[in-house]
Amino acid sequence: MNTKFETITLDISGDIATLTVSREKSLNALNKQVHTDLKECLWQLRENADNLHGMIFTGAGEKAFIAGADIVEMSEMTAQQGYDFSVLGQQVSVLFEELPFPVIACVNGFALGGGCEMAMSCDFIYATETAVFGQPEVKLGLIPGFGGTQRLAKLIGRNKAKEIIYTGRNVSIDEAVDLGLVVKKFATQDEMLAAALKTLGQISRNSPLAINEAKQVMNQANDLTLAEGLRLEAERFSDIFGTAEMKEGTSAFMEKRKADFSVK
Ligand code: CAA
Repeated sequence: MNTKFETITLDISGDIATLTVSREKSLNALNKQVHTDLKECLWQLRENADNLHGMIFTGAGEKAFIAGADIVEMSEMTAQQGYDFSVLGQQVSVLFEELPFPVIACVNGFALGGGCEMAMSCDFIYATETAVFGQPEVKLGLIPGFGGTQRLAKLIGRNKAKEIIYTGRNVSIDEAVDLGLVVKKFATQDEMLAAALKTLGQISRNSPLAINEAKQVMNQANDLTLAEGLRLEAERFSDIFGTAEMKEGTSAFMEKRKADFSVK
């Protein structure tokens, strides 16, 4: 698997990957090259998913996770190029959602605009006390373009999302926790990364198949009615019956031992 990219770094340690946007001088702003690198990398991770149980997604340095889409690059774009840029960013966000293992966004500092949008595409967000969230696009005469109008509303409710998007104001870490945007806050970046690794380690002891099924059903439920979502849940619940992982999990319970899902 290629781990060399121009604007991002991918480290794989055991069964956990760490993906870092590495444009520290521009506060990790998302330009076309970052999206192209992310798209290529996420495709590869998807292809090699059998060897992985989770991923941390973060930004280089202490100041910013991602300070948004690259404003300098966008300022020169035509409407068609703006459309293509939006679609490319949205494709990246969907690739995060569709990875068959959990992804924790570890937010250090600014997560503005496209940064907040990419963090929301991950399964959940851990953040440091210095984290600042927001969708400031309207201050630039823009609207969120990598899914913010959709995902923020679904995550925290439409009216709260409207207030944040219309004002373009910063959302502090404490407010982000209160809103349910951030799951846990940490004093330092090191503490956050250590906790994310611990959480992924804990998750990786469970059935990888079940984790992936739960992730896909919960993500797809965003676009479904309750009745459709319940039908999907019953279908995917039943799909797991008879699999080696389901047999191992239930047998281990009855035999009063820990399940070992690495045995296929
Ligand atoms: N795009 C391009 N460059 C950026 C950037 C961005 N989004 N954010 C920061 N930078 C660059 C700055 O231009 C600066 O570069 P130079 O050193 O070459 O001047 C460098 O990063 C450091 O930034 P600052 O000097 O501004 O740092 P600061 O501490 O004074 O301020 C900040 C930090 C408040 C995050 C400020 O940089 C800022 O407001 N950035 C823009 C945030 C923003 O508006 N994001 C939304 C973008 S639009 C979007 O994301 C659209 C979409 O949904 C698709």
